[in-house]
Amino acid sequence: MDKDLDLHLIHTYNRSVVFDHGEGVYLVDTNGKKYLDMGAGIAVSALGYSDEEYKQGLKDQIDKLIHVSNLYYTEPVIRAAEYLSKVSGMDRVFFTNSGTEAIEGALKLARKYAYLKNPDSRGEIIAMNQSFHGRSMGALSVTGTEHYRTPFEPLIGGVSFATYNDLESVREKVTDDTCAILLETVQGEGGIYPATEEFIKGIRELCDEKDIALILDEIQCGMGRTGTYFAYEHYGVKPDIMTSAKALGCGMPVGAFAAVEKFAEAMVPGDHGTTYGGNPLAGAAVCKVFEIFEKKKIVEHVSEISAYFFDGLNRLKEKYPEQITAVRGKGLLIGVEVKNPPADYVKKAMEKGLILLTAGQNVIRMTPPLVMEKEQIDICLSILDEIFHSK
Ligand SMILES: Cc1ncc(COP(=O)(O)O)c(C=O)c1O
Repeated sequence: MDKDLDLHLIHTYNRSVVFDHGEGVYLVDTNGKKYLDMGAGIAVSALGYSDEEYKQGLKDQIDKLIHVSNLYYTEPVIRAAEYLSKVSGMDRVFFTNSGTEAIEGALKLARKYAYLKNPDSRGEIIAMNQSFHGRSMGALSVTGTEHYRTPFEPLIGGVSFATYNDLESVREKVTDDTCAILLETVQGEGGIYPATEEFIKGIRELCDEKDIALILDEIQCGMGRTGTYFAYEHYGVKPDIMTSAKALGCGMPVGAFAAVEKFAEAMVPGDHGTTYGGNPLAGAAVCKVFEIFEKKKIVEHVSEISAYFFDGLNRLKEKYPEQITAVRGKGLLIGVEVKNPPADYVKKAMEKGLILLTAGQNVIRMTPPLVMEKEQIDICLSILDEIFHSK
């Protein structure tokens, strides 16, 4: 990479390509090379690139009103909250600029609920090992990956970590001061691990028994990605507080935390706020996303296409057992566990015009646009076949 490109950017990413524009499920770089995108901006661009209706929705809102303070109502934001409440089963929504901020808000809400019950509560939070919830001090405090955390300590106190999919390990951590149990319904960055039914139902019961908040992070696994609007629908379990972002805006920076009334009412004016979070432009993006999802039956499409993709990946696993150790995930949130470093595959794929991601230590991650069709999945599978073959 040309050294000058990084000259004025703090070096927090190993970037490789300069992208120019997007068309459907392809990105195009400044040299005109096309890439089939199996990352979608890390589970963001569910509608792919350059969707006419989405772009028009944003343009119309830009012409009307881009921003007013959250001291006032706007129609797009009211409608966006209504959409999200309806599909999530929550009662009230707070819009943020990012997933990280949605986590911050969710933690504050759980602590406020506990504080109202008992002002001496220490507001302890149980989170999971190998989880990822963001990089701010609060979100990092509940992120169970040591190397992200250590250089930035001391973080917020009162957080302990249990083992994902091990109910007993969660039970052991619960004290009279616990105010919330936080988990991703499907762990994303940690390596694409869906929760087991027993685990998630057990945690729901535990939270009910102790009157503490079950917070489900649906930032990566939500918004249709697993074949239901939110991944918790697969389990017949409803959280008290949930977080969303990424595909919620399909490219416009917007996130949200939402809660059932019992928890939501703990927050009152002055408790939380944001200047930009959920401004009218972000609200219009959310409304457009939901409208297009309904019109194009995106969530149903994910279930159909996912089975096809998994079949193809499992065939590759049978063909290359010395390289592929597991294929797992839900819908179009897919992990291919490999024995060699996953970054090697990502690099090779990039040369061949295929964008892949990594997760955890040994997983190739795929979070494609949800509008991906069978023909494009065939192209992806054939490039993967070439790469595994050449290893
Ligand atoms: C599960 C989960 N939670 C939280 C976040 C943080 O979201 P953001 O990057 O929008 O702040 C991410 C981002 O990857 C995520 O995957």
